[in-house]
Amino acid sequence: MLNTTRSQQLVTEAVAVMPGGVNSNVRLSQPAVFFERGEGAWMHDVDGNDYVDYMLGQGPNFLGHSPASVMDAVFDACGKGVIYSGRHPLEIDAAKKVIEALGWADMIRLGMSGTEADQAALRLARAATGRRKFIYFEGHYHGWLDNVLIDMIDGKPSVGSLGQYADYISDAIVIPWNDAAALEQALDQHKDEIAAVLMEPVMCNEGAVPPQPGYLKAARQLCDKHATILIFDEVITGFRIARGGAAERFGVEPDLAVYGKAVGSGWPVSVLAGKRHLMQHIADGSVTHAGTLNGNVMAAAAVAATMDALTESGLYARIETYGEKLKAMLAEVSAAHGMPLRLHGLGSVFHTAFGGHANEIRDGRDVNALDLGRYARFTHVMAAHGLWVPGRGIWFVSAAHDDKAFTATRERFDAACAQFMSAGTADLNVRIER
Ligand SMILES: Cc1ncc(COP(=O)(O)O)c(C=O)c1O
Repeated sequence: MLNTTRSQQLVTEAVAVMPGGVNSNVRLSQPAVFFERGEGAWMHDVDGNDYVDYMLGQGPNFLGHSPASVMDAVFDACGKGVIYSGRHPLEIDAAKKVIEALGWADMIRLGMSGTEADQAALRLARAATGRRKFIYFEGHYHGWLDNVLIDMIDGKPSVGSLGQYADYISDAIVIPWNDAAALEQALDQHKDEIAAVLMEPVMCNEGAVPPQPGYLKAARQLCDKHATILIFDEVITGFRIARGGAAERFGVEPDLAVYGKAVGSGWPVSVLAGKRHLMQHIADGSVTHAGTLNGNVMAAAAVAATMDALTESGLYARIETYGEKLKAMLAEVSAAHGMPLRLHGLGSVFHTAFGGHANEIRDGRDVNALDLGRYARFTHVMAAHGLWVPGRGIWFVSAAHDDKAFTATRERFDAACAQFMSAGTADLNVRIER
């Protein structure tokens, strides 16, 4: 068990000046640890403890913490100026490299967060189609704004926050994911009303559930049939599950897509990517996409340098191999302690929980039927043993995870399982993150 005395003191200071002592609600339920440094696959807290990090900033640190080439590029570029509200060449460099990596997009715009890029994609789809509604999938996440923050409560789409009113989500037609018949039915039923089908091409926010074979292709064909825009929200999958994201890995092209997280190696930046005929609506000014900070030097430099780093030969295979080996180890060690974990997903991003049922995990309902609460409590025990993982079950793997990180993970995970089985955590009240 780690000593976190200094962190505990800082919690008291933090809660006095920030709601919940944090700056994003997803962190409300995290163990009370304050970090001061991240390096490769490791984070170091203010008490001098180290952690093998599988949170990775909730995904951005795909190259590991503080990757030298990206850090140098950003510091060099920002030494000359940070924001111009004017054009600068690095924007072109970043755009060309992203377009090359994606392979299917003609143009991009830089933004600051996945949340706002999702809104830009929806607006663009509505402008292009003259339609208002969109398909939203149970368990998917597209940012925290009013029209897309949707929870399923008693099987019904409901607002995800107080202060949000039911009519704000009334443009969303909510259906289960990975069910081509449900999608076909919704599109048929709301003929000529649906601007967009908005999806995480791998359902990563709740679970890490890949599409069923043929599902993305079916979605593509149905969108074509109904002249509906297919939007991939690749904020997690982009540049992670392949250099060209899910579009490359599953061989299906969206019309528009949104990227964040890994695209800038942790620097704040997002990308809206699309086909030229759609992005043209922004070019002629008829669709507004704006932002004081969009395309700033830091963001453009981070994206360009990240794109260069992602061309390293064998990078994706190496990360997948590590992730598969990690999954196998977690399964084996947890089972040996009599607390077998359910694991599903890909090598670079997978999901763990305690198994509440024997079904194949295909959608949000299957994930929610798992014992997520017990797992969330277990993550606090893992943190106390130097493993930093999200409470909602997802694990992210980076390019920096190596043999040393693996060996430490195995030892620490083994110790965490032993403690969890002997002491239990039933009295620990941990809110399930979303
Ligand atoms: C799939 C997906 N879309 C959108 C978002 C929102 O991105 P951001 O937190 O950068 O606003 C997230 C964040 O986790 C996400 O996972």
